[in-house]
Amino acid sequence: MMHKHAKALTETVRTLTTRGKGIVALDESNATCTARFEAAGVRSTPETRRQYRELLMTAPGSEDHISGAILYDETIRQATSDGVPFPNFLRARGQVPGIKVDTGAKDLANAPGEKVTEGLDGLRERLAEYHAMGARFAKWRAVIAIGDGLPSQLCCEANAHAMARYAALCQEAGIVPIIEPEVLIDGSHDIDRCESVTEHNLRIVFRELQVHRVLLEGAILKTSMVISGLRATKRAGVQEVAKRTVATLLRCVPAALGGVVFLSGGQGNVESTQHLNAMQQVAAGRAPWPMTFSYARALQQPALEIWGANQQCAAEAQQAFAFRAQMNALAARGEYRQ
Ligand code: 13P
Repeated sequence: MMHKHAKALTETVRTLTTRGKGIVALDESNATCTARFEAAGVRSTPETRRQYRELLMTAPGSEDHISGAILYDETIRQATSDGVPFPNFLRARGQVPGIKVDTGAKDLANAPGEKVTEGLDGLRERLAEYHAMGARFAKWRAVIAIGDGLPSQLCCEANAHAMARYAALCQEAGIVPIIEPEVLIDGSHDIDRCESVTEHNLRIVFRELQVHRVLLEGAILKTSMVISGLRATKRAGVQEVAKRTVATLLRCVPAALGGVVFLSGGQGNVESTQHLNAMQQVAAGRAPWPMTFSYARALQQPALEIWGANQQCAAEAQQAFAFRAQMNALAARGEYRQ
């Protein structure tokens, strides 16, 4: 199978996974962003969302630790206060602009309690437009819930199929697909159950990518960690999460894949950093692919709290964001010390 953009795709992967750097997800949909703003005491309008994203993207020093930013459709069309379109601003700083292209997880018919991610309609045309705006990577998030009898095979397969079609369309457009099958942390399940669900689901995802002839070297997996449910009676510690996650990835993720990045998925800020650091140490010399962070909440939360409490404190909020970026960049090298 010939991939006409293979060279550009692998170059983008290399930039995104530069050692000691990671990705920031700034792609909350308007509904999600509004929920987070309201919790922080901020009114959510296109202008407040623009101001907040500008604050993060322009945070001094963050460019040393952040290789790319995932934007939302509204954000990729917005600009800095000086009028520089956000994707141009990122590129000028040596960072890769990315774009969330799924249109959200909707109830999956005949599968109570489960969701399938939509967004394939018109995707080829949307990708062409985003590429012209400067986007060189994209994200598609599927959610897999753990529960009584869940996930179903139907849910895993429906999501993997949509994700593989998305990935193939991205590569056709010269855009690196980030494939994000998130196994949700909600629930009282133990880490064993998370491990078996993650393994089962990853095998389905990679089988489907192969069926759809996706170039693995030009794709990135964004995964949840193998971790105890939030309401589990006894939650596994940092070393256990690191060992289980790395072992599961080594079992399921082909060596040719361009990279593995992690989502924070509702973990605490420091916890996400500790886990990344421990995984990096466990994987040293064993993982065939680069591993780094692609966090939203774990990078943004302290900054959003400061800015939410007082919008005059933009500089402090920027410092808080740059600090978390720096700590995660250290963890991405396995050099984080508390
Ligand atoms: P969190 O790190 O907040 O889980 O977000 C990452 C992401 O991009 C979810 O799609």
